[in-house]
Amino acid sequence: MKINRDNLPQHIAIIMDGNGRWAKQHAIGRIRGHKKGAQAVRTVVRSCREIGIKHLTLYALSTENLGRPKEEVKALMSLLEEYLSNELMELQKQGIRLKTIGEIDHLNATVKEKLLQAKTSTANNDRMILTLALSYGSRDEIILAVKKLMQDIKQDKIKINDINKDMFGSYLQTTGMPDPDLLIRTSGEYRISNFLLWQLAYTELYFTDVLWPDFKKDDLLKAIANYQQRERRFGLTSEQLEKDNNNNGRSIDRE
Ligand code: FPP
Repeated sequence: MKINRDNLPQHIAIIMDGNGRWAKQHAIGRIRGHKKGAQAVRTVVRSCREIGIKHLTLYALSTENLGRPKEEVKALMSLLEEYLSNELMELQKQGIRLKTIGEIDHLNATVKEKLLQAKTSTANNDRMILTLALSYGSRDEIILAVKKLMQDIKQDKIKINDINKDMFGSYLQTTGMPDPDLLIRTSGEYRISNFLLWQLAYTELYFTDVLWPDFKKDDLLKAIANYQQRERRFGLTSEQLEKDNNNNGRSIDRE
């Protein structure tokens, strides 16, 4: 699969779905499906780094996922712990910085500790930023941002009239990151499932029937090639964009 190296998405976000169905297809338990899903995470992180993607954000655990049967949640925690232990050296070697979004206080203490360690020890890496969304829900993220904003207004740090899209974005946990250019969801489901609702405003969406444990580098390349065929208009017309490009982007304020 050929892709254009000059037009790569800067930020790819992925809803990794289908571990349970993959397990069912193979007549094995759900937990083994997640295990295979964790292997796919390794492959995709390495592939994105190889290709030159700057930001990769993976929806690893939603707030709702924490309500799954105890055994499954425990297994997901162990897999995460295992991933962090086994991959930390690789992340360092590859210059990958680990970040998280979500309420990591809701995770078990060992995982939380491992995450904090991994985030601290990779903090100076800048070849790629890998963000894991853990115990994450976008509506919760937005509500937290509103609360912080209200507090800052109350304490006279900002004025109501100062609020704009950029400022609001800076109150979200993704502050400092560009919005995703491409969102991939696996397993044939066509939903956003409370993931990055604010940040996905102009993101190109790509859905594939491939179940997450089967998702390989070639599937990633296919998604990127598909993205590269799209014309991103940000609500404008093709003609305006052409003019904009001829003026090196100076004529149009996309906000
Ligand atoms: C969705 O499949 C997947 C999850 C809820 C968890 C994602 C976790 C991993 C990929 C493995 C661990 C992660 C890391 C970062 C090491 P599902 O169980 O909802 O599948 P189904 O819809 O087919 O039942």
